Amino acid sequence: MSTFPKGFLWGGATAANQCEGGYLEGNRGLSNVDFIPSKENRFAVASGQLDPKCLKDNEYYPSRTAIDMYHHYKEDIALFAEMGFQVYRFSICWSRIFPLGDEDTPNEDGLAFYEDIIDTCLSYHIEPLITINHFDIPIHLIKTYGAWRNRKLIGFYLRLCETLFTRFKGKVKYWITFNEINMILHMPYMAAGLTIQPDENKTEMCYLAAHHELLASAKAVKLAHQIDSDYKVGCMLAAGNMYPYSCNPNDVMESIQKDRENYYFADIQVRGYYPSYALKFLEQNHISLSITEEDKVILSQGCVDFVSFSYYNSGVASADPNLQANAKGNVFPTIENPYLSASEWGWQIDPLGLRITLNALYDRYQKPLIIVENGLGAKDELINGNIDDDYRINYLRDHIQAMKDAILIDGVDLIGYTTWGCIDLISASSGEMKKRYGFIYVDADEDGQGTFKRYKKKSFTWYQQVIASNGEIL
Ligand code: BG6
Repeated sequence: MSTFPKGFLWGGATAANQCEGGYLEGNRGLSNVDFIPSKENRFAVASGQLDPKCLKDNEYYPSRTAIDMYHHYKEDIALFAEMGFQVYRFSICWSRIFPLGDEDTPNEDGLAFYEDIIDTCLSYHIEPLITINHFDIPIHLIKTYGAWRNRKLIGFYLRLCETLFTRFKGKVKYWITFNEINMILHMPYMAAGLTIQPDENKTEMCYLAAHHELLASAKAVKLAHQIDSDYKVGCMLAAGNMYPYSCNPNDVMESIQKDRENYYFADIQVRGYYPSYALKFLEQNHISLSITEEDKVILSQGCVDFVSFSYYNSGVASADPNLQANAKGNVFPTIENPYLSASEWGWQIDPLGLRITLNALYDRYQKPLIIVENGLGAKDELINGNIDDDYRINYLRDHIQAMKDAILIDGVDLIGYTTWGCIDLISASSGEMKKRYGFIYVDADEDGQGTFKRYKKKSFTWYQQVIASNGEIL
């Protein structure tokens, strides 16, 4: 075998809050993401330090319009099919299905909307890969229950899962319980609806909410298998290994500890129990999660079937407090790696780091892996209807080569690849439209103005050929 295994799933990924728009349509309820502004206050709100109630009236909220996929999805999925997608990863907006979040019965308009997306995919033989929760939560659940800090959220989330698993039985095989579950430590409002009060211990609050999400995830896995034994349910991690800054053992130990901040989540979701280093961390930080005996049983019965992750960059860790984390990479600050170049947004580019991460995850878990996000955010120029995005092609080519090496040289069981933002969408960290990842350009600007017309970039044809050759022609 000189290339990817037969049946390897090629495709792309999006998230409801970054592409759908249509925020008042189809009886949808309001979500946290509808109140995350685009510009200077975005990080403060997303990280839970600024309550959206304190924002000015004239703030612009990009998720409300996004790329208006709510009205363009048929055209968009047709373009994905033209590229040859075999899988399309998208997420469900919780407040489209349960507008408040705590109702007994779901909103039929929302279910019909996603059912049509699924049916459209299936008509092109595209496998839907559904993220049940990708950075959104009904506002009512935040206001009334305090979001994921409250155990009651587990029940509301399970109701959402049961509704989806039942309604889409026979049409969908792959599910992801939470997008980048470790993001709760960095963007608690965006990831889990948490606003942190000045007198609250942010770290404790985040780990408590994470415990509730981990229980919800485990229960969802069990429920999915009960409803359809063919369902495959995965966890999803913002991944990317931490390198020691030097061979000084102190740096090596520091890198192990930094990696554990992320493994903490997947270790529990894959193995079904809190690892010993996690219990020690909680104890040393005086964090009590009140883990009950019943909780332990729930976690042990809800181990995931596959491990999915996003990969944008590696990181660097050092024990030297004088070394500043001055480089960006997703929202995790890291020490700059002098051996790597960076994107226009300062995210360091490390294709070999993807092979390293694939190996680390496979060695650790021995579960099938899916890369559900990877890509280059860049400014594209539309000239006479064309976009020559060779920089994106180069980025993706190098990362796909690293995947190929991980499969062919290292024997990693990688079963699929969905590039991030296969169609341009709103950036999660910055709220910008100009940070584009897509094979398809969307004519919209920073203020949500434009024709919303779709254009194929040069990378569109390139990816089409990659898929047609099953990764042989890069
Ligand atoms: C991941 C998220 O963190 O990175 C996506 O799951 C996000 O939602 C992606 O869009 C890229 O980040 P950004 O900030 O460039 O949009």
